[in-house]
Amino acid sequence: MKITFAATRPVEAGVLALTVRKGAQPDGIALEHAALVTAAMAAQRFEGEAGSSAEVFVADGTSAQRLVLLGVGEGDDAAYERAGGALTAKLLTAGAARVVADLSDADAASTTRFAAGAAQRSWRFDEYRTRLPEKQKPTLNEIVVVSAAGDIDAAWTKRNAVTQGLGLARTLATLPPNILYPESFVERVTQAVDGLGLEITVIDEDQMRELGMGALLGVSQGSRREARILALKWNGAEDHGGDAPLTALVGKGVTFDTGGISIKPAAGMEDMKWDMGGAGAVAGAMLSLAARKARANVIGVMGLVENMPDGNAQRPGDVVTSMSGQTIEVINTDAEGRLVLCDAITWVQREHKPAQIIDLATLTGAMIVSLGNEMGGLFSNDDGLAEQILAAGRASGDLLWRFPLADGYDKLIDSAIADMKNVGPRGGGSITAAQFIKRFVDEGVKWAHLDIAGMVWSEKDGATWGKGATGYGVRVLDRFVADNLEG
Ligand code: BES
Ligand code: MN
Ligand code: ZN
Repeated sequence: MKITFAATRPVEAGVLALTVRKGAQPDGIALEHAALVTAAMAAQRFEGEAGSSAEVFVADGTSAQRLVLLGVGEGDDAAYERAGGALTAKLLTAGAARVVADLSDADAASTTRFAAGAAQRSWRFDEYRTRLPEKQKPTLNEIVVVSAAGDIDAAWTKRNAVTQGLGLARTLATLPPNILYPESFVERVTQAVDGLGLEITVIDEDQMRELGMGALLGVSQGSRREARILALKWNGAEDHGGDAPLTALVGKGVTFDTGGISIKPAAGMEDMKWDMGGAGAVAGAMLSLAARKARANVIGVMGLVENMPDGNAQRPGDVVTSMSGQTIEVINTDAEGRLVLCDAITWVQREHKPAQIIDLATLTGAMIVSLGNEMGGLFSNDDGLAEQILAAGRASGDLLWRFPLADGYDKLIDSAIADMKNVGPRGGGSITAAQFIKRFVDEGVKWAHLDIAGMVWSEKDGATWGKGATGYGVRVLDRFVADNLEG
């Protein structure tokens, strides 16, 4: 979607979109159309609620002008983002090629959130559709946003970076597992971030063996695909002369999760192509930070493996030695995400000494039982960090809810034969998974774990996404960095 900004409304408006506050009338309607617009609003039961919309055709000489009214509720930033999403949802395949959205009475923050919502809602994945009916093809390709806010282009460049990151995360989650596997993930992401100034490190299986990453390699050993770790480092604070502490983002990148020998049931197994959603969010966030030249030092680490059953696959009962030296009894080969994360976390601590770590993972089905598909689960060893991430979640729209950690839960993963086992009892499955990861976080390092199993993929349309990949995680990470590290 091409988004441009104009100081005044172009004469040739084509489709015109106007925002309307809850219970109010739209501004900027020609006097002779006011009665018709009011009647049309009433007929469609449109009252300006955030995310709602209505349509009116008004006479324009001998032709008709299409007017789209977009509710912005109480007029907060988030409501403007929903309104932008509603505009695109309504018009994307509705015939019009260009729309002028008049936001002359909104500030720069609301205006760019509106434009971001509109751009984000236009993302689609049609690569494998060779027979898409003409009427299902997008027609809308340009939104002209009329804005009186100063320096809107600079504000947009920053905001648009997040949209690009979201697009990458969504594409990665959508690509089928025969196309996206650890090596091709690395290829796609390195291409997407090419030229942005990120320091790129790729670790292959030989290097992993040397480093002693027995937990990650154990997951990978049943797959014909080779595992990889991809790290993208952004030295944005140093570039500005500051010596800021490093934040590490670590993502679970299981490009397909069959469960391994503890194989999953057939129904719905195809969903496990997006078991790399944590790594996808990290890739998207790093793209965003680099594209908008964030003044922060952040490293994104993605643990990439495929979990397959095979003659060489690991067995329930195997004991593996992680890079940290701690041994793990693999009770269930389907609890593989934590085995990948623990070695990725140890590696980034040894190699880069981050002050804080945020990991993201589609880790447990139990998280979906707890929170459904409305919020991600947050676990943390630090109240301050937890608060910062929860606040970034609220501000960005990627909502989170905090869960507990406690010694009682930790004991549940003690093993009779090794330092720990990779699963606890059925109850509290998301918490024991978090306790497992916590055992690999060094003393003094702040850490938060986001279990996003219910959030990466959506069965229904959202405000700024169509059903399918949501890109969840990119917005909260970007906002966390903006609000807490760039200050
Ligand atoms: N990737 C799954 C978790 C998952 C399930 C994500 C559904 C998204 C949707 C994870 O690797 C897994 O299989 N977890 C097991 C853990 C269990 C064996 C302790 C689970 O949740 O069943
Ligand atoms: Mn699994
Ligand atoms: Zn998994």
